[in-house]
This record gives sequence, structure tokens and C-alpha cells, in this order.
Amino acid sequence: MSHLAIRGGEKTRTKDFFLWPFYDDRELKYVEETIKSRQWFSGMRGADPGSKTAELEQKFGDYFNAAHAIACANGTVALEIALRAAGIGAGDEVIVPALTFIATLSAVQQVNAIPVIVDTVYDTQCIDSDEIEKAVTDKTRAIIPVHYGGFSADMDRINQIAKKYKLVVIEDAAHAHGAVYKGRKIGTLGDIATFSFQESKTMTAGEGGMITTNNPDLAEKCIQYRSCGRHEGESWYVHYVLSVNYRLSEIQSAMLLAQLERLDEQIRLKNQNTKYLAEKFKQVDGITPVPGDGFTDLNGYYLYLLQYDKNKFSGVSRNRFVEALSAEGIPCHIGYPWPLSKNPMFQKIEDGAKGCPFTCPYYGKQVSIKDLNFPVTEKICNETVVIPHQVLLSPASDLDDIIKAINKIQENIKELL
Ligand SMILES: Cc1ncc(COP(=O)(O)O)c(C=O)c1O
Repeated sequence: MSHLAIRGGEKTRTKDFFLWPFYDDRELKYVEETIKSRQWFSGMRGADPGSKTAELEQKFGDYFNAAHAIACANGTVALEIALRAAGIGAGDEVIVPALTFIATLSAVQQVNAIPVIVDTVYDTQCIDSDEIEKAVTDKTRAIIPVHYGGFSADMDRINQIAKKYKLVVIEDAAHAHGAVYKGRKIGTLGDIATFSFQESKTMTAGEGGMITTNNPDLAEKCIQYRSCGRHEGESWYVHYVLSVNYRLSEIQSAMLLAQLERLDEQIRLKNQNTKYLAEKFKQVDGITPVPGDGFTDLNGYYLYLLQYDKNKFSGVSRNRFVEALSAEGIPCHIGYPWPLSKNPMFQKIEDGAKGCPFTCPYYGKQVSIKDLNFPVTEKICNETVVIPHQVLLSPASDLDDIIKAINKIQENIKELL
């Protein structure tokens, strides 16, 4: 008789872990207030005085110690707005990590600049600073470190490189709301930072985005780009720069006000629970939580990242292991399947696609993204097991089922061969 759930045996866990997205009376109250107020639109410049969006920006900025917070439609356009505000455009290169969501690269291309992809570090899964420095050319204008999974990128070193070569640093903090690096919250560690409120994220209104900065000029430009290029106090029909409508709605802001109220408590619970799990994982041969470099004081824990060693599981592939663990009732997935360079969109360029940014005359160089290799990112993509953040919001005793399920798979590994 089989034991593993994937082979028809009983599941280790039949109950749900903490459910995501989460809401309570606060979301319902703030959304109801907004609906009844008949102010559903955030205003001409996207966060007019008295709006829920203005309140959200104020509170988000306070929480992140940022002088300016600018709400927008999602994390992808937050990056695009940040790049435009920083003056990045045709002919410019922007350094990005190989391990991230496509938005980190596509935003660069959307402003007609060239993404220069570099490898990551195995034990943080964040961009490798040594590789950043090697990639700098006379065309480099910016770096976008991603605080991957909730770990902070190596910001001191990245800022040093940026200073040396006069580059703009845009933190992609889509995975790291509330993370703390060397005593400082991420979000103001570079020149400008961007966040996502898409449904899987640690604060969500289904969709949404935020930009933070301490630089008033960048903030003003972001506000302009966020709402069709308008100037404060001028007519709805006067536009100063080419842009479109990237505004957030009042109903989303109302929900995000509620989500922000519990962010701190949730981050602390997740960090406490991962400490508990780290002790348990010491007894598991072949699976290790990604350790980080020791400088992320509080991890944002959008993803709980585990390193899987198939040699300790009789050679069973990571993908097969993840299928078996899911079947046991443990939510998990493989994360990003490959370095971004492997995406079909980059193979097509080599087939002769025309136009900016890759064939832009302002750029004047040849790029072949599909031929690039990122050995560390490849290894990460082949060996990582991802547990989504909401699992970490469950009571610590529920987390024992993760360990039980892994032990069960290891004991019955023959059923997977
Ligand atoms: C690292 C990273 N950056 C940017 C984004 C884009 O955010 P959004 O989905 O809100 O556009 C995501 C979304 O998953 C992401 O993971």
C-alpha cells in the first residue's frame, strides 16, 4: 500500500493554512465608507487632499520613513514611472537581476532603455554586487536591485557602486514590504523604491502599486507621470509630459489602509515563525531555508525560500518533490522557472524583431540576451522550493505539518522513483 498522498495515500494535512488574501472588519468598514462617500476617484493628480489615497500615501510614507509616497495602479507601472522620473530613456542601460518577475525588465524596455541582466547570489537570491560592477559601461544609468522574496539586496555595496559611477538606484521592493536592512526599512535605501499590491503580495487590494522616495524632485515627477502629465492647480486638460493614467482608485486605497494597519504585526509573526521553522529544519537532511547574508534584520517574507538537495532524496528532482509536497497538503511551488533571459520574448529579438529598445540608434550596440548564461540563477531555479508567505501566518504548531510532510516523503522516497 502506498503512503505518499501523490500515490493515493493519506495527506499529511487536510486543513487550510492561513488563507490569503486576508481581510477583516476594517477592510469592510473602510470600503463601505468610501462607497457611501461617493468619492471613488482619487483626484486630478491621483491623490488629492482629503482622498483615501492621500491618507494612504501619508501613512505608507510614515511607516516606511519616506518623505514621499506616490500611489499608482500596480508594481509594474511603479517601476516605469520611477525610471521615467529618473530620466532613463533611449540609449541607456539599466542593470537588473536574472531572478525576478518580468516587470523588473519590461519596465526598462517600456521606457526604451536596455536591461542588462546580471547573476544573483545563491544564499540570498538577490542581485550579485560583483556582477553589477562588472556590467557597468559608459551607458549605464541605473541599477534595479530586487529585494527577492523579502531578503534585502546588498544595499551598502550597491549604493557605493552607484555613487562611484553616478547611477540611480531603484529598489524593486515588490517582495519586501516592511523588510529591515541593517536597522533601516527598505524603501528609502536607494534613490527611489517601488512596491506592488497585487493579490499574492504581503499587502494587497487585488492590484495596486506605490513609489517611495526622499527626493522631492523625483516625487514631483512621479506625481506628474502618474496622472497624465498634469501640474498641480492647473486644468484637467493641460498636460506637460507624455504619460497616461496610472492612478489607484479610492476603493483600493481604502482596502490598503486596512492592510497597512496589520503589516507590522504580520511581518513580526512571519519572522518569529521562520525562526521556529529554522530550528526544525536543522533536523531535515537535504532541505535548508535560504540563509541570507545576515544583514536583513526583518525579512519581508513574501516567499519562504528553501534550498533542496536532490542527492538527499535519492535523486528525485525538485519538481517531483514539489508535486509530492503539494499533494501532502502543503502549499508550495517552484518559483521562477528560469533566468529571465530564457523567456520567449528574448529569443524572438534574435529572430530579427525591429525597433527600440534593442535596435535603437541611440543605443548603437548589439545585444543578444538569449545567449547569456546565469549559472547561479539557473541553480537557484532548479533547487528552490517556495512556500508562499501566508503559510507563515498560521500558528507555529500548524507549521509542524511542513516538516512532517517532508519527513514522510523522505521516508517513502522509493514511491517517487
Ligand atoms: C519583483 C517584482 N517586481 C515587480 C512586480 C510587478 O508588480 P505588479 O504585479 O503589481 O505589476 C512583481 C509582481 O509580481 C514582482 O514580483
